[in-house]
Amino acid sequence: MKILITGGAGFIGSHVVRRFVNLYPNYQIFNLDKLTYAGNLANLKDIENKENYYFIREDIVNRESIMALFEKEKFQAVIHLAAESHVDRSIHNPLEFVFTNVVGTVNLLYAALKIHRENPGHFYRFYHVSTDEVYGSLGSTGMFTEETPYDPHSPYSASKASSDHFVRAWHDTYGLPVVISNCSNNYGPNHFPEKLIPLCINNILHDKPLPIYGKGENVRDWLYVEDHASAIDLIFHKAKPGSTYNVGGHNEWKNIDVIRLLCRIMDRKLGLPEGTKEKLITFVKDREGHDLRYAIDSSKLQRELGWKPSVTFEQGLEKTVDWYLNNRDWLESVTSGTYMKYYEEQYAKRFDQ
Ligand code: NAD
Ligand code: DAU
Repeated sequence: MKILITGGAGFIGSHVVRRFVNLYPNYQIFNLDKLTYAGNLANLKDIENKENYYFIREDIVNRESIMALFEKEKFQAVIHLAAESHVDRSIHNPLEFVFTNVVGTVNLLYAALKIHRENPGHFYRFYHVSTDEVYGSLGSTGMFTEETPYDPHSPYSASKASSDHFVRAWHDTYGLPVVISNCSNNYGPNHFPEKLIPLCINNILHDKPLPIYGKGENVRDWLYVEDHASAIDLIFHKAKPGSTYNVGGHNEWKNIDVIRLLCRIMDRKLGLPEGTKEKLITFVKDREGHDLRYAIDSSKLQRELGWKPSVTFEQGLEKTVDWYLNNRDWLESVTSGTYMKYYEEQYAKRFDQ
């Protein structure tokens, strides 16, 4: 099968591309990525010379190029991960999220439908990788199921909700075979250090304050990235067209507790007395419209497709810390250039609260 994976140079995409290239040598895997600040071909160094792997630098917003590429390659399936993914950036620059996440997704749908119509039986499916943030925010109880009504709050989640709706519309209106999954917070290797866990790992290594928004009471449901990749693999191969699956590790943590655990692990790995790095924790101005709690019910995926996560949070966080400690050059390279400018602009007002 000839598969187009979009956003394959990013955090989750790189794990999905690696998994598919290594596990399915008979598939041809095309990784299409614009290489924004979040895309990094170093994430795929170990597979870049494999015979079944191809890289295409392209912007999904560029409709003509996308149509021409599909016309030429006649992909049989799409796994769509390319997106602007950071909530804080969406608050400052929402239009970029509309272009990539909404217009970019619709461009891919147009191109996939054309292949599907012109070559009956040829196109297997369009898989949209989405987020639990489309469901909005929970109070202290309850979980998101596949039936929870959409209620996005941030420009990021509004753009992902919109793209989910367009994907379903292409199924219901035009008969394109689609599947969607909505996943909770991922963590693990290759995670860009603007997101909570890798940002704090980087700051711990540089003895910089660890910025915790508000009181640190917000809850996220964390999943190790390779477990998300294994869920995507199963859903891609087994889900029925038109279906949706929630993906999550049943692993809710308050932000402050995540960072305390991270500090304990890093104290131990760095040979420091317990409590050393916790002193860096600093409560800062809250995120605007900050969703209180996410918790995802992934029982449908477990029951119907037999998926389960492979590691506990403690194990996954250990693996993650080890990866960052063993890949200091990766961290240095992604935090050089414009990273510090972003960091200083983003956090100047927060630390000033
Ligand atoms: P990321 O920001 O690490 O990577 C996004 C990738 O998309 C980058 O390689 C970037 O270069 C590429 N890209 C961005 N704009 C593009 C464009 N216009 N054209 C082509 N490529 C473009 O994101 P991630 O965290 O790996 O998330 C991947 C997908 O999974 C996203 O759709 C996101 O909404 C979804 N998701 C993420 C999480 C999470 O916790 N990170 C959880 C659930 C769902
Ligand atoms: O739930 C899935 C989503 O998880 C994905 O769709 C998004 O692409 C991904 O970025 C992630 O969104 P969050 O906003 O939950 O992730 P982030 O790492 O930015 O923040 C996690 C929590 O930590 C959140 O409650 C905000 C808080 N936070 C974040 C940062 C960057 C802080 O307290 N301090 C920080 O510096």
